[in-house]
Amino acid sequence: MQKLIIQGGKSLHGEVTISGAKNAVLPLLCAALLTKESLKINNVPVLRDITTMLSLLKQMGTDIIEPYSSEVVLSASQLTHPVAPYEMVKTMRAAILVLGPLLARAGEATISLPGGCAIGLRPVDQHIKGLQAMGAEISIKHGYIHATAKKLRGARIIFDIVTVTGTENLMMAATLAEGTTILENVAREPEIVDLAHCLNAMGANIQGAGTDIIAIEGVSSLHSAEHTVMPDRIETGTFLVAATAAGGEIYLKNTDAHLLDAVLDKLVEAGAQIDSAENWIHLKMPTKPKSVNLRTAPYPAFPTDMQAQFMSLNCIADGTAIITETIFENRLMHVQELKRMNANIEVEGNAAIICGIPKLDGAHVMATDLRASASLVIAGLIAQGETVIDRIYHLDRGYENIEGKLSALGAQIRRAH
Ligand code: UD1
Repeated sequence: MQKLIIQGGKSLHGEVTISGAKNAVLPLLCAALLTKESLKINNVPVLRDITTMLSLLKQMGTDIIEPYSSEVVLSASQLTHPVAPYEMVKTMRAAILVLGPLLARAGEATISLPGGCAIGLRPVDQHIKGLQAMGAEISIKHGYIHATAKKLRGARIIFDIVTVTGTENLMMAATLAEGTTILENVAREPEIVDLAHCLNAMGANIQGAGTDIIAIEGVSSLHSAEHTVMPDRIETGTFLVAATAAGGEIYLKNTDAHLLDAVLDKLVEAGAQIDSAENWIHLKMPTKPKSVNLRTAPYPAFPTDMQAQFMSLNCIADGTAIITETIFENRLMHVQELKRMNANIEVEGNAAIICGIPKLDGAHVMATDLRASASLVIAGLIAQGETVIDRIYHLDRGYENIEGKLSALGAQIRRAH
């Protein structure tokens, strides 16, 4: 099994090009199921979750061409097999995103209940409730969701909780439904806006993406389009936290500061000097970081996907901080691993109290989920001595060439088998 080996203690200096957003590409690939014509997607990152999604779409009958590593052309002219089997879904919860498009286009779908990160129960009841309101017949048997619908019809759906993929699934399904769908209490993440732009370019009629009410006027069919994926705001934030924790000066290209206002506010509070323009962010960290309290919540508040990285930063910051996780019930697993590196953290319910210490100690640790892995990489960069991170397949799901990008900034990091 592959591992990362990091010699800590180097500050970070230089430029990094940010990749396309994983969480935007996954629903965009599924949008290809909504049309017989082709969908071209640019700025696609090389990630394991993307490969998994492409294999899933391929076995449903989608033709896939990859002219370059960052471009994908998908043509779902015929959907021969509207099924997402357990083996393909178990590593990636986002596979549930095929449910809405398959039902809308093929009138049927059989999807294994999703797996993915072990960060909580993560049910899909809101996806199912919404599709039922649009006229779908849904049953769950032997770990599979079986869904059929002759023709989905528009409905008014009020989500009980704010869900990102739930919003995306219903938004895609509604594009081909009969009549108008109104989705209320929806997620406002920028990835949803990116998806709405692409669907509208395919001929859909969606208004309100980015606010908490989305209106979709169904159309009879969608057509061919080309779309360039937005930058990955979580990759961007991860590099910014790494440089704030390790010190130095970095320049991030192909990104957008407006996508992560809540994260930048916290980095400035920690002592980072940040400036930015349309597609770049520059960060300089001249001092030791100060502790920052934070509480995760749906966008535009502080993202749960950045919580673990800030935990590592707080481990060596001046002062004591409280981090409260409100989105997922089991997303503090990195705390145990950080404690193996001598971190001073106490967990109480869904909160962690972190008392900053001068240095972490390098140790052998294990990645437990995608963003927890990123927190261990940051911890390794700032620790004294060597850190070995096992099970980095979690990291490869969501970070393109992280060791290459960090090495270019001067970090001592390498992959070993
Ligand atoms: C997406 C992101 C993930 C991020 C998360 C929260 C993608 C591919 N993944 O995941 O990186 O961490 O948003 O920002 O975009 N819930 C229910 N019932 C449902 C759906 C969700 O109870 O039907 C709960 C979940 O268990 C969780 C909360 O709602 O506690 C938010 O989950 P959700 O927004 O759906 O996360 P994902 O879309 O899976």
